[in-house]
Amino acid sequence: MVRKIVFLGPPGAGKGTQAVRLAQELGVPHIATGDLLRAEVQNQTELGMRAKSYMDRGELVPDELVVAMIRGRLEKASGFVLDGFPRNLSQAQLLNGVTRVERAVLFSLSREEIVKRLSARRLCPQCGQIYNLLARPPKHDEICDACHTRLMQRSDDRPEVIENRVDIYTREIQPVLEFYQNQSVLREVDARGSVEEVYRAVKAAVS
Ligand code: AP5
Repeated sequence: MVRKIVFLGPPGAGKGTQAVRLAQELGVPHIATGDLLRAEVQNQTELGMRAKSYMDRGELVPDELVVAMIRGRLEKASGFVLDGFPRNLSQAQLLNGVTRVERAVLFSLSREEIVKRLSARRLCPQCGQIYNLLARPPKHDEICDACHTRLMQRSDDRPEVIENRVDIYTREIQPVLEFYQNQSVLREVDARGSVEEVYRAVKAAVS
């Protein structure tokens, strides 16, 4: 099985849900640029304060900020599941200069399903568990099953921000797909099925 993996796909396609499990199974770090940026915002670091306004609007944070944040992690790693990076061609090229990606997995999902999933997403602010009020509800009303913390909704999961995030994804992703297609490492996964079905497809894509 390959060990240097990037997950590509629209917001809400299930990348984070699958990345946690795959990284655990492979014994490699799950590096999620969105999670790392949200931690910087929460800790009110200089990077976080610069990133926040972009994230609130659903826009991409400038490449140099994101790359500075993950470069060290990638240089050291003998494997990873990189989730949410690269988002555009320049990020793909920058990544290529740091390490060689062995597999790029594209999650495909319709706009309608994306909006539905993201509107119902809830997160545990304590342990990071991802829920969905429709498809993966917690056992008790908006309380984390694992650590019993009250769940929260991400500020960029508001309908108008979701639309902007999908527009930006659609505009930026095509050259990234061509980049990995040319390296013969791109595989597409249908993200419509259940979490289990999608996981099986992801495993096949990285085998
Ligand atoms: P980021 O956090 O990366 O957000 P995203 O790419 O928009 O992806 P999401 O986290 O929204 O979705 P996901 O695919 O992980 O889906 P999930 O598993 O949660 O980025 C946020 C922001 O940070 C960006 O807008 C940007 O500002 C900035 N940023 C991040 N990276 C950057 C970069 N490289 N460059 C510049 N800026 C960057 O699932 C979604 C929901 O669906 C959940 O409720 C889940 O329970 C449910 N679900 C999952 N799988 C299934 C299934 N099979 N069936 C039914 N429901 C499911």
